[in-house]
Amino acid sequence: MDYKYLIVEKKPHGILLLTLNREKSLNALNSEMLKELHKFFARVEDDVRCIIVTGAGKAFVAGADIGEMANFSASEAYDFAKLGMDTFMEIERCRVPVIAAVNGFALGGGCEISIACDIRLASTKAKFGQPEVGLGITPGFGGTQRLSRTIGPGYAKELIYTAETIDAKKALEIGLVNSVYEPDELIDKAIEMAEKIARNAPKAVEYSKQSIVNGSQTDIDTAMQIEKTHFGLCFATNDQKEGMKAFLNKGKTEFKGK
Ligand code: HXC
Repeated sequence: MDYKYLIVEKKPHGILLLTLNREKSLNALNSEMLKELHKFFARVEDDVRCIIVTGAGKAFVAGADIGEMANFSASEAYDFAKLGMDTFMEIERCRVPVIAAVNGFALGGGCEISIACDIRLASTKAKFGQPEVGLGITPGFGGTQRLSRTIGPGYAKELIYTAETIDAKKALEIGLVNSVYEPDELIDKAIEMAEKIARNAPKAVEYSKQSIVNGSQTDIDTAMQIEKTHFGLCFATNDQKEGMKAFLNKGKTEFKGK
């Protein structure tokens, strides 16, 4: 599939490197790019085990396209927010883990896409922020909800109300990113993590993701029910049988995803 704003590279072991590519506008998200992203995440092929998202050039994503939004009516703004939210939901609910390799500015919609991903790794050049209130708007791609759930309401409120930008060191301190690397190491480190994920039983990783994502959005009893169901489903896979047999025989197994 050909995209105007996305570069998709297949790496070994079922890893996809997705580069958001609208470099002249610091990869600002316009409607067309959001539609491409929605299409991409809605059609992840069976052999894919992990996806890495990064940005072309010096930015990860500098936000939603301010030029496109400037003259929106209220109903156009609502539809644009819905398009971004639906797209980021596809990322959050994607069958495989999605790692954001944040190489530069991750502002507004850029910070919001990163927190729809499962894991954030940052380069020392990364900058995060929710500058929306300084433009007279609120976050609108899920930021008011996902940021609190990621870093807790205290820091989320500080970032959103002050509109301040923070560096990678501060992002690490508040738990917004898992690790920080030199810029030329970032993608290799993301691939290294993706390879570790890809070596494990795909169904077990998928069920773990579903339990974490769906469980975190409901009450504890329902969440435990979700985990029990997924745990049970693992025992209907060949990978569980092979994985446990290999352990008991002190051997190794290559998981098939079945
Ligand atoms: C449109 C953008 C853009 C954006 C940058 N550009 N961010 N265009 N939308 N969000 C464009 C600039 O206009 C410029 O185009 C080119 O990219 C390079 O940007 P510069 O500003 O010249 O670069 P620099 O001086 O390095 O500053 C980088 C920056 C700054 C600090 C990231 O660009 C910036 O503040 N951008 C806006 C960040 C922001 O407010 N994001 C939140 C948007 S609201 P030209 O043509 O002049 O070269 C949002 C809401 C989400 O995301 C929810 C919606 C429902």
